[in-house]
Amino acid sequence: MSSFDNSMQTFESYLDIGYDQKYRPQFHFTSRKNWLNDPNGMVHYDGEYHLFFQHNPQGTPWGNMTWGHAVSTDMVRWTQLPHAILPYDEGTIFSGTALVDHDNTLGKQPVRQGSPRQSSGQAGQAGDVKTLVAFFTFAKYPYGQSIACSTDKGRTFTLLNDGKCVVPNQGLIDSDRDPKVFWHAPTKKWVMVLYVQTGIARIFTSENMQDWTLASDINREGFHECPDFVELPVLDADGTPTGETRWLLYDARFECSIGSFDGASFSIEETFSKSDLGPSFYAAQTFSNSPDGRTVIIGWMRESNFVEQDMPFNQQMSFPCTLELRQDREGIRLCRQPIREIETLYKATHAFEAVTADALAPQLADIDAELLDLSIAFAPGQDLALNMRGIDITYDGKANTFNSESCKPLPAHPVDGNIALRALVDRGSIELFANEGSAVATSYVLPAPENTSIQLSGDADIRSLTVHELESSWGGAEG
Ligand code: FRU
Repeated sequence: MSSFDNSMQTFESYLDIGYDQKYRPQFHFTSRKNWLNDPNGMVHYDGEYHLFFQHNPQGTPWGNMTWGHAVSTDMVRWTQLPHAILPYDEGTIFSGTALVDHDNTLGKQPVRQGSPRQSSGQAGQAGDVKTLVAFFTFAKYPYGQSIACSTDKGRTFTLLNDGKCVVPNQGLIDSDRDPKVFWHAPTKKWVMVLYVQTGIARIFTSENMQDWTLASDINREGFHECPDFVELPVLDADGTPTGETRWLLYDARFECSIGSFDGASFSIEETFSKSDLGPSFYAAQTFSNSPDGRTVIIGWMRESNFVEQDMPFNQQMSFPCTLELRQDREGIRLCRQPIREIETLYKATHAFEAVTADALAPQLADIDAELLDLSIAFAPGQDLALNMRGIDITYDGKANTFNSESCKPLPAHPVDGNIALRALVDRGSIELFANEGSAVATSYVLPAPENTSIQLSGDADIRSLTVHELESSWGGAEG
């Protein structure tokens, strides 16, 4: 019988670590202690969002891969729980996804109290407690894909099939990995998209999550690890659904393609160039079982090296954003914007309208803010220089780009006569969203802790500037 290596259950030792260190991000998820990388198993279940994540329970470098676990009711304030899926049989637990088995196709739903049936395990039987099913890569050469399930809201998991792979290594490389699994309603099948070699994501289908049939390969040059694949409504420029949908496929580098999917194969219609213009957005994933139709994405902010700052944790997640497809005259754009729940962190707001940048300068001098959600809209064709906590961002009115040392230029063309930028600044990051999130840059940066100033210069005609100061999202967490 395979069993989890309980020496990796180190969570107890995290409880004496708080969230108040000098460089601890205050509204981006970090583990109380130790290393994290990819978000895993992001799923909404019974009023809670679950964020599992690649985690080293024994140190601040990468290693001993385990699924760490945190829950939240708003995707903003997270409570970390004991590690969810631990290594076993000398293999570690790599990335994957989680889902809710609404129709009990796996047959692991517990029997309802008082039910005449005495044992679980009967596919199709509907009880009250839905099974939460996690698919992960069992990282012992040659890697394959395995399943663990939970019927106590993700607090404990049981290995299915004694932890043995339900999808064996495909033989192209010895490290197939990162299964994305979801329900495809039109064909009434589960679909798995798996990274099997650079350039290939392989699609499998199943009726019961245990027996998988190869359906097709998606060939895309350079495609690399951590596939996510999700159907999105196409919205018009105002955000109204057009009635059309597209499937969006992306890899760990967030190289995105849209197209159509019939339950077995994906036809690519368009591939977007560089969908995140910063250096840090990696291995992103979307929540499954969304309670409100939104598709919300979180990525690992790679290269966030907090150990260099003597922090007890390492790496961080990006701020959750909605992911949308918007149609305009030039075609379909991919847009990302911070989830509206960020507003629950606003503790003070400074709003200015219709004034030149230079005239605003003295008023901005009174603002003293460490955690920021800032939005600015201004007239096109003019240059602007914005400095937030020492981070310079300029707008080049001829090239129509925002420029910053931390990222590649963000194209930003006038929309409704305005150029718009939104910036989130935390203790270890800046996330830039130009023109309603059609150009986004996610960057690990460390603003000097003592610099809490905002400066603006240039003769640009500012239509509006709103600065929200945020409180820490860790307020509710013990410690
Ligand atoms: C991406 C990745 C995944 C793998 C995991 C291991 O960052 O390399 O392909 O499952 O990290 O931690």
